Amino acid sequence: TRALEEVLRDAIRTIPDYPKPGVLFRDITTLLGNAQAFRRAMDELVAPYADSHIDKIAGIEARGFILGGAMAHQLYAGFVPIRKKGKLPHETVRVAYSLEYGLDEMEMHVDAVSPGEKVILVDDLIATGGTAEAACRLLKQLGADIVAACFVIDLPDLGGRAKLEAMGIDVRTLIA
Ligand code: PRP
Ligand code: HPA
Repeated sequence: TRALEEVLRDAIRTIPDYPKPGVLFRDITTLLGNAQAFRRAMDELVAPYADSHIDKIAGIEARGFILGGAMAHQLYAGFVPIRKKGKLPHETVRVAYSLEYGLDEMEMHVDAVSPGEKVILVDDLIATGGTAEAACRLLKQLGADIVAACFVIDLPDLGGRAKLEAMGIDVRTLIA
């Protein structure tokens, strides 16, 4: 069996100049479409939590939904979505966060997580960490016990991991 990192490196596609000039976009659709690579990535992400009695997986829109659904199934946990504003039908909690240009807001349903529940946050990639930090603020507002924040890809030069670790979050990534 090939090393996971090599499998992932081969399965993730890099698109230059998307969504704008100068950006090297790490595209995980090729990983998701590769049965072996997708399974190995999911197995690795959930392995440390098999006996942790995780209550909920919280996935960040949009690619965190796909990974989070697979993790929730494997861990016998619930899945809760963290969405861009205006998409969730019930009462929500909302936070503003900064993007490269300007502000955006994300939301969770107020009853998505109960105080003290053990939650794992997941997304495909952490860059500046602004998105994940906002997601952690929402989870904390609901009283979640954030066991870890998991990402397939870390872009270490952008400092996201350090930002979450400074908040006391345990960060796990599969490839940098
Ligand atoms: C990407 C990625 C993370 C976020 C990471 O999402 O999937 O959610 O950016 O960036 P950050 O660490 O600098 O906050 P994107 O903005 O492409 O949104 P989408 O998943 O809805 O397409
Ligand atoms: N891929 C996906 N999302 C991202 C990236 C990337 O390369 N950079 C910042 N957000």
